[in-house]
Amino acid sequence: MAQFDSFEFDSTARRLKKVASVEDLRRLAKRRLPAGVFDYIDGGAEDERTLATNSSDFARLEFRPRIMRDVSQLDTSTTIFGKPASMPVILSPTGFTRIAHSEGELAVTRAAERAGIPWSLSTMGTRSIEECAAANPTGEKWFQVYTWKDRGLVEDLVGRAKAAGYGALWLTVDTAVLGRRERDVRRGMTLPPKLGPKTLIDGAIHPGWTWDFLQGGPITFANIVGRHEEDGSTAVTLADHVARQFDQALSWDDIDWLRGIWDGPIVLKGIQTVEDAKQAVSVGVAGIGLSNHGGRQLDDAPTPVSLIEPVRQEIADQATIICDGGIRRGSDIVKAIALGADAVSLGRPYFLALGAGGEAGVDWLLDFLREGLERTMALSGCRSLAEIDRDLVAWKR
Ligand SMILES: Cc1cc2nc3c(=O)[nH]c(=O)nc-3n(C[C@H](O)[C@H](O)[C@H](O)COP(=O)(O)O)c2cc1C
Repeated sequence: MAQFDSFEFDSTARRLKKVASVEDLRRLAKRRLPAGVFDYIDGGAEDERTLATNSSDFARLEFRPRIMRDVSQLDTSTTIFGKPASMPVILSPTGFTRIAHSEGELAVTRAAERAGIPWSLSTMGTRSIEECAAANPTGEKWFQVYTWKDRGLVEDLVGRAKAAGYGALWLTVDTAVLGRRERDVRRGMTLPPKLGPKTLIDGAIHPGWTWDFLQGGPITFANIVGRHEEDGSTAVTLADHVARQFDQALSWDDIDWLRGIWDGPIVLKGIQTVEDAKQAVSVGVAGIGLSNHGGRQLDDAPTPVSLIEPVRQEIADQATIICDGGIRRGSDIVKAIALGADAVSLGRPYFLALGAGGEAGVDWLLDFLREGLERTMALSGCRSLAEIDRDLVAWKR
């Protein structure tokens, strides 16, 4: 007998019911967000080749699944820098998160707390260190810094993160200057976006986003507001901001300086060669963030997944390896772990999920990744992360 599906009254839940993958979330976000906002999140540098290969390189790996291994009990849990995590997934720092949804980082950090995974706040975040800590009092929180010319500002931010209970620090090292993001250049994208006739038309055809945006109050770089003339209250291009404020003279000696103001684990975010991973270990950092900033900096940079194995071989167990970029499925997580990563981290998937469905969208994404991780483990005969070893994957010929 035919049965009628019950009607879903909540419009977000209705939208999310039709989503089956990160690509579907991306399409939904594209429909809901003004074009300039979508392109700021989704875009990459120059010809976007690295953006594409960051994900497509995972498809160059195939599984060597083992069968009949009693996979009735699965354990996806791990520890990262001594702290428990329900799965080996970290949410990467992203700037200007409130552009996708007025709750911004608060929605993302609450979802991460529920999922039991570490979440990261960017220096260019749009909610303050303290607000986010209050929204996520029990979960693991990491803070990300760039090295500003104004080192007093960095010191102040790091001190605040420590006082608010953040457990690890990302130092992003791939942004001496900003990559040329041509979608933003074409659209004249500034942060915050300038309001002109084009933005108004764009706003009118995306009423859900516009209503939320107008209700949310002005978006600023919440952690540097009042400390800096470029705190997000006036429109600047990101490229100009980076060129004026970031320290192009950043060098290995600065790690000592950072260690002097932060005694927890430091992860270098933006390691792109085996040589630099080795050097990072020699200066005593705890974590290697294999990352090219999600293909937003140097186009034709190597993909994080292609670096895992050679870096692991070089550094053995001297540091935690995080593969940051291109993760779109649970099976990608398993592949990264099999090659030797301790954890993965991701940016666009949760940013687009926030644009597609707000906090419920981020919950959806984290459930999707966990289910995909469990399914892949079951189908490949691995009961725990420890059982995911190098023999599980092979590069396709
Ligand atoms: C819209 C956007 C903003 C970002 N902002 C920052 C940032 O402020 N600091 C930072 O270290 N990385 C930033 N990133 C890079 C992410 O932390 C991460 O490295 C990248 O998104 C990983 O690739 P994925 O998007 O394929 O997961 C940003 C990425 C995106 C997409």
